[in-house]
Amino acid sequence: MAKIGNIDVGDFPLLLAPMEDVSDPPFRALCKEQGADVVYTEFISSEGLIRDAAKSVMKLDIYEKERPVGIQIFGANLESMLQSVEIVEKSGPDIIDINFGCPVKKVVSKGAGAGILKDIPLMVSLTEAMVKHTNLPITVKTRLGWDSDSIKIVEVAERLQDVGASAISIHGRTRVQMYKGEANWAPIAEVKNNPRMHIPVFGNGDVDTPEKAMEMRDKFGLDGAMIGRASIGYPWFFREVKHYFETGEHLAQPTMEERLDAARRHLQMAIDWKGEKLGVFETRRHYTNYFKGIPHFKDYRQKMVTSDDAADVFAAFDEVEKEFAGYEFV
Ligand SMILES: Cc1cc2nc3c(=O)[nH]c(=O)nc-3n(C[C@H](O)[C@H](O)[C@H](O)COP(=O)(O)O)c2cc1C
Repeated sequence: MAKIGNIDVGDFPLLLAPMEDVSDPPFRALCKEQGADVVYTEFISSEGLIRDAAKSVMKLDIYEKERPVGIQIFGANLESMLQSVEIVEKSGPDIIDINFGCPVKKVVSKGAGAGILKDIPLMVSLTEAMVKHTNLPITVKTRLGWDSDSIKIVEVAERLQDVGASAISIHGRTRVQMYKGEANWAPIAEVKNNPRMHIPVFGNGDVDTPEKAMEMRDKFGLDGAMIGRASIGYPWFFREVKHYFETGEHLAQPTMEERLDAARRHLQMAIDWKGEKLGVFETRRHYTNYFKGIPHFKDYRQKMVTSDDAADVFAAFDEVEKEFAGYEFV
């Protein structure tokens, strides 16, 4: 049974990865319904939070129904990170996660995200200070290292544990790799096999089939799987993995009815949360996957992703319901 601080997260938990513009409250709620054991917000800038930038502050919203939920923050300045911890605490998350893995230039160039992999002492001291500054569990999400010549993740993970991190999620790529190539889980298994490690070690990167999740558990011996891209527009991935673990069989894909229900609720929750304009805009990226595989679907998808008006998108869902009722996804 894995535990993050005092929070019981079950046996081999499935974690929804933090994803910018994806892991928002509506999407997290849908993933939770479909079996995600822990969900994380997208990364939130500590500098934005302390400036009270509206966009950053809005990202702090959480729904009761998605717990346990972790709020992820990034930054490289100690004072800003500590102030952010205080701001984040007010939203009542169960966990605070530090992003030490984001590879994008604008983050890395400020020494934040994966940029900190070039300064391990700072990574450790920031984590320690944050742990001391809050009673909430602090978790860390990071990558294997800066590049293939600097993979010291076993030592780094142990040091983060020793200063009080409650769990670590490791994406099996270096910063230099960005998202290229295949994720390498072997170094993550080395972290887990370190006899001194006692906090949960979660694996991340390329888990896109139930078999891969099982491999992460049984072959690599990790404590849980963090899932990102496979869930975009497909929150059912979590239940499919769980079903496979329980039965060794693949669950049938969600029906048209379930997909339409998810799409409608997703859009409605997004509108309720951030208003029609943004709600319509930000749910668009999910529709391709919600309705993937349906032949001659282009016109319907086009309506869903180009209309600025929620009523038009809902009307497109109604048309799909009429046209494709009972369609079997294989
Ligand atoms: C659209 C998108 C946005 C992401 N945003 C974040 C983020 O805000 N914070 C973070 O730690 N990782 C972020 N990531 C990285 C994912 O959390 C994850 O580490 C990566 O996608 C690998 O896992 P996967 O193969 O299961 O997708 C993002 C990834 C994607 C695809």
